[in-house]
Amino acid sequence: HKEVKKIACIGAGYVGGPTCAVIAYKNPSIQVTIVDQNTERIEAWNSTKLPIYEPGLDHIVFTARDGIVAPLDHNLTSGKPMTVQLASTMNGGTLITGLDGHDELCPRPLDLGHAPNLFFTTDMSSAIADADLIFICVNTPTKDSGIGKDYACDLKYFESAARKIAEIAVSDKIIVEKSTVPCKTAQSMRELLEANCNPGVRFEVLSNPEFLSEGSAVSDLLNPDRVLIGSDSSSTGVSAAASLSDVYSWVPRNRIISMNLWSCELSKLAANALLAQRISSINSLSAICEATGANINEVSYACGLDRRIGPHMLKAGVGFGGSCFKKDILSLVYLAESLHLSEVADYWKSVVAMNEYQKCRFTRRITHCLFDTLTGKKITILGFSYKKDTGDTRETPAVTLVRNIFAEKCKISIYDPKASEQQIWLQLAEDGGKLEKLKSRITIHHDIYEACEGADAIVVATEWDEFSNKAITPRGPSAWTPSSILRGVSANGNRSHTPTNQIPQGETFSRVAPTPTIAILGGSGTPSRLPASIDSVISRN
Ligand code: NAI
Repeated sequence: HKEVKKIACIGAGYVGGPTCAVIAYKNPSIQVTIVDQNTERIEAWNSTKLPIYEPGLDHIVFTARDGIVAPLDHNLTSGKPMTVQLASTMNGGTLITGLDGHDELCPRPLDLGHAPNLFFTTDMSSAIADADLIFICVNTPTKDSGIGKDYACDLKYFESAARKIAEIAVSDKIIVEKSTVPCKTAQSMRELLEANCNPGVRFEVLSNPEFLSEGSAVSDLLNPDRVLIGSDSSSTGVSAAASLSDVYSWVPRNRIISMNLWSCELSKLAANALLAQRISSINSLSAICEATGANINEVSYACGLDRRIGPHMLKAGVGFGGSCFKKDILSLVYLAESLHLSEVADYWKSVVAMNEYQKCRFTRRITHCLFDTLTGKKITILGFSYKKDTGDTRETPAVTLVRNIFAEKCKISIYDPKASEQQIWLQLAEDGGKLEKLKSRITIHHDIYEACEGADAIVVATEWDEFSNKAITPRGPSAWTPSSILRGVSANGNRSHTPTNQIPQGETFSRVAPTPTIAILGGSGTPSRLPASIDSVISRN
């Protein structure tokens, strides 16, 4: 099979950026070019402040994009360490060029690991023309009009990327679907490419869905549970799959799974649907716990010990968020409906319905904790991203919370460690609220203490580590001491009141502010990652 030397990736988002940066990092001999039509995004990828936050991503991108510090710097003529821009073999040694353009000759061959091999650009045509293999990583949102509105996946960006490839390509290409797409998209893609391509050019279409989880994208990519490669069974299909498999050079071979194209496409939708279904299932049980006095954390723990069930994605919370779960389940529902499998469609629809119910139930709990009125009170929302360790706010449950409590005429302060102010406003305004009206009663803070100052309630909507007990220390000797703490009342409302006159050591959110009366802990997009320390505290003075 053919060796891949140049890769293009269309779409420099949450998937294209990290995935192809890791591919470049792990394959110094492959040139990887990531293209996007969004100039601002590409500028950010080329800067020192990357457009998305993922733990460990800076190191991967800077290494592959800028080259690494020569590891054997004492072998250089000058003896100074330098960051390598280019390296080539010369006279049995290695000629290297520093980022400042300065050349050095190392007298012996150097295993540099990395000369820069990762590029970000808006120049789609040359990236496509040069590449042997092209990943399509564009967004595939839910359709907002026309046939399948609110359910079907909108393939307009995907199709436009494919058309561009057909227009530009003058040599054979392997096209890899990395975006999450409906079952059988590869077939339409191949037909579209073949109908529009330049004479003599052949395309092989593969499916290679991405399973990274935001917030742990880099470690998921470095150590994936599995890499799925779907191809057709022709010899050219199998050979293209083998070429792609080599690109995942760092992944143990037994974790690279070949399968037919349709299984591969469907596996991604199925995996997301199953993950979301676990969250909705545990959240539904949390409602029963609140009504009966059972403790959802105990129930979850007890169930998770069963090896057939397992502990992951089994923590109750405010409901799942993020750009994928809802969209992918709706896409599955649409598929089932198109196949006239209405019972199947209804089953998966209920997973989304349960999630909406949970978000609204949590809002009602906040109001109830504050004696059924929020008018004129100040509520602080800690965390706005849909889960910890990401700045992504798409479909975050925090939007629903803010929208619902805003309607109760309270003032709202928001603090999130990574979600940008601009992004938060955008998200809130997108959700139907007029920006001016919102700004009259909502403030976004960059300092957690300021955000909490004078709050009547602090709502923890995202499980960021910095909100967990140990990370927050009182500011100065005047730190507020509540007169009593009600413990064990979580987002899921297990009311086991244990009033005490002291904050247990290293405990509690109420210390961050001088006068809050209550701290209500929500959950997260991925409730399984809630740190144990913030599981079940509610404080009231
Ligand atoms: P994103 O919205 O962050 O990135 C998509 C990028 O594609 C944008 O920057 C956009 O400007 C660009 N784009 C769209 N059309 C283009 C075109 N014709 N030419 C050039 N650039 C174009 O989306 P994200 O989150 O990276 O998702 C991409 C796909 O991956 C989706 O199908 C999603 O379902 C899937 N996915 C997402 C995961 C996630 O955690 N975000 C995880 C696994 C899969």
